Amino acid sequence: MKGIILAGGTASRLHPTSVSVNKHLLPVYDKPMIYYPLSTMMLAGVKDILIITSGNSIDSFRMLLGNGSHLGIKISYAVQDKPNGIGEAFLIGEQFINNEPVCLILGDNIFHGTDLQKKLHQAAMNNNLHDGATIFAYKVLDPRRFGVVEFDSNNIAISLEEKPENPKSNFMIPGLYFYDNQIVNIAKKMKPSDRNELEITDINNYYFSKKILKVTELGRGTAWFDCGTEDSLLSASNFVQILEKKQGLKIGCIEEISLNEGLISKSELKIYLKEKNSNYYNYLKSFI
Ligand code: G1P
Repeated sequence: MKGIILAGGTASRLHPTSVSVNKHLLPVYDKPMIYYPLSTMMLAGVKDILIITSGNSIDSFRMLLGNGSHLGIKISYAVQDKPNGIGEAFLIGEQFINNEPVCLILGDNIFHGTDLQKKLHQAAMNNNLHDGATIFAYKVLDPRRFGVVEFDSNNIAISLEEKPENPKSNFMIPGLYFYDNQIVNIAKKMKPSDRNELEITDINNYYFSKKILKVTELGRGTAWFDCGTEDSLLSASNFVQILEKKQGLKIGCIEEISLNEGLISKSELKIYLKEKNSNYYNYLKSFI
């Protein structure tokens, strides 16, 4: 399975903070935002990842994450220069996807929870074995600024809507999607919406109309944040700080995940940490 992290856009809602720095490189407490979606991908078992970002940010991402070899994974980069929608990720990534199933995560979506890894593995396995797609459902008080899904007791979707004024349920669709290897052909069939974007909800609606869209509920034990506004960015930072300070365990710590998943050895981590000194790196040193 391939993975795509979408980290482009102008993030105008965060201006002036994100004028000269790509939003996904801004800190969420003690590490850049991109670490969190990358850690989600790694927890799902995805090891070949394409980061799509704006042309003027690629060098900064490369400086931060390189080719991923220090994490025991492969990271490559591609450019989305115009905000043509989330669905365009599959057109930009066509060669990279190379007819494999793919997991897409939005670069500002943060997930944390006890049974998260199990659910991610299930979704990845499902898409490796069967045709179809998996989306997630997360209960929020006000879902109007999100994709919204209504589903029955068997987790079968009943309706999907993008930013509805009168939502049919309280379940928003977080920016994490698993698709079969038909995704590129399906994205090519889609027409841009009224706001001239290839909408991810239209793609999901296609799978829904073919009755091959699964919905996995992320229960109350899961934390989900997007970081698109100053308030959500601060909430995410506060959440990470509170939990990390209390437990002494880091969230979104990609090197720790590499070690736990057996992607790198302790001696490789030791070499990587040489001459690195910060609270973040000192935490990692405690594992070697
Ligand atoms: C996008 C999707 C929406 C999803 C949300 C999650 O919206 O279009 O369906 O619920 O991400 O973060 P955006 O935040 O890009 O407007």
